[in-house]
Amino acid sequence: MSHPGLSPFPILIITERLILRPLLESDGPEIFGLRSDSGINQYLDRKRSQSLTEALEFIRNVSTHGMLYWAITRKSEDRLMGTVCLFNLSVESHTCEIGYELLRNHQGQGIMTEAVKEVMAFAGDVLGVTTFEAFTHQDNQRSIQLLEKLNFKSVERTDEAPTEVMHFRRSKGGIR
Ligand SMILES: CC(C)(COP(=O)(O)OP(=O)(O)OC[C@H]1O[C@@H](n2cnc3c(N)ncnc32)[C@H](O)[C@@H]1OP(=O)(O)O)[C@@H](O)C(=O)NCCC(=O)NCCS
Repeated sequence: MSHPGLSPFPILIITERLILRPLLESDGPEIFGLRSDSGINQYLDRKRSQSLTEALEFIRNVSTHGMLYWAITRKSEDRLMGTVCLFNLSVESHTCEIGYELLRNHQGQGIMTEAVKEVMAFAGDVLGVTTFEAFTHQDNQRSIQLLEKLNFKSVERTDEAPTEVMHFRRSKGGIR
């Protein structure tokens, strides 16, 4: 992903309780946890990691796939609790997609709401993103609740993705 606002990336994002930082190889066990857990992956269309080696490979490849990937950590402990990522950034249309996941023991504490709000603020302020897109399975209630809380609205699907996937969009305004 090449964008004048991304030089240099990685960028630290600091919120009330959290530090969002780039992924490190030392995050391997937590990334393996996220990418192998059947509950976390229930609604995600991706290949599960079978081993720590695969998780490490994923970490090494993240930047080459043009995604901005942040590890979510607490200010009090530098251990990955989940991730937020921006991808499919279009400089011309000022849009990008957003994805997120939390390890089970960190869910239900408002961590993702806090993280996504600041990532969107960063994307708006630094990258000039005005429209955020998110795709989520129609049964993924936690994800839908998160998006609705952040003022994403469900929009009619115009792409080829499976029909059980819902398309949400949030346009600029009141990101914080
Ligand atoms: C989607 C996902 C990140 C949502 O996680 P989450 O824990 O529900 O979201 P948050 O971290 O924002 O927490 C919100 C919950 O914390 C509660 N909470 C507790 N303390 C809080 C605080 N200080 N501030 C805000 N909310 C707080 C909220 O009330 C809310 O719970 P409720 O909806 O029952 O009222 C999580 O379910 C997940 O990782 N799923 C698997 C991966 C996935 O499907 N990703 C989506 C891909 S499209």
